[in-house]
Amino acid sequence: MATIFSGIQPTGEVHLGNYMGALRHWVELSKKPEHTSYFSIVDCHAFTIPYDAATFPRAVFDAAVAVLAVGLDERATVFVQSDVPQHTELAWYLGCVAPMGELGRMTQFKEKSEQHKTSVGAGLFTYPILMAADILLYKGTLVPVGHDQLQHLEFARDMARHFNHRFKAEVFPEPKPHHLTLRIKGTDGGEKMSKSRGNTIAMLDTPEQVWKKLKGAFTDPQRLTREIPGRPEVCNIYTMHTVVTPEPALTEVVHNGCTTAKIGCGDCKKLLAESLERDLGPVRARANELRAQPGRVLEILNEGGATCRAKATETMREVKEAAGVFGARSRP
Ligand code: TYM
Repeated sequence: MATIFSGIQPTGEVHLGNYMGALRHWVELSKKPEHTSYFSIVDCHAFTIPYDAATFPRAVFDAAVAVLAVGLDERATVFVQSDVPQHTELAWYLGCVAPMGELGRMTQFKEKSEQHKTSVGAGLFTYPILMAADILLYKGTLVPVGHDQLQHLEFARDMARHFNHRFKAEVFPEPKPHHLTLRIKGTDGGEKMSKSRGNTIAMLDTPEQVWKKLKGAFTDPQRLTREIPGRPEVCNIYTMHTVVTPEPALTEVVHNGCTTAKIGCGDCKKLLAESLERDLGPVRARANELRAQPGRVLEILNEGGATCRAKATETMREVKEAAGVFGARSRP
């Protein structure tokens, strides 16, 4: 029995890194009958870097459509973070027991504050506190995240421990990472496919859009001509094949074809485009259906929000009792 919690920021399009690295696993975990799962479009996290308020509601809607289209189990709760005010409320209580030193060591803070030098708000620094609140509010025990979020998850574990210890109460279980090891590189060869780096292929791109981006994507840098055998283990195209191309084609056609120079990078990319379409064609069709019924999407998110507020109210009652909040106890 595990409570799964995970989130995705509504900044830019959901890309193949998100899909292969995280969303596919959300689907898998949500389908296990022993799991209760919560998946959030974490809009409050996106406020930590500059964004366009006018187009933001659309970005949240699009992210929700993408998450709903991947085929989560119908028991899974999907919701928008800002619909549940207890996330920011709990973040305050946790912030009061969060060590500043630990926050200062966060790699993502260092990277992002470098990227947005002129507009670093305190929210970017306290981001991991909000992320801890997301998980702990639902007493999450298993959190599927990629490598880039592991440090934040370790911090969330510390937060659970600090809070319980400070108030001598077992309010929060320590959430464990369900470490998703696959890392998808950018089409530009950059270490990570990332919305902020403009090196993405969107999960809901049409086959034509996918091909346009895939055609010019980086492969094994040593394979300068078709005659030179390639090294699948360093090639991002091969990494993506491992997710969407089934055996025996993966080994016999893609891997062996590359290492013996029987196929060129162009052929290999064509095969990948086919595999992607097999996997993502149905997801795109579901997304189009959902886009055509915006009322249905809002209904799902509203229901999700209501479920979460009920659960969050219960947890906050425990938090306030433990922390000695005036209104939580019978007054003196
Ligand atoms: P975000 O929106 O950056 O990414 C969502 C998920 O996608 C994974 N991911 C990747 N995996 C493999 N290769 C890539 N190139 C790649 N790019 C992104 C991420 O690891 C992540 O799992 N802080 C989080 C959102 C969040 C959250 C939470 C997650 C807020 N609260 C509580 C878990 C639990 C974030 O910015 O993810």
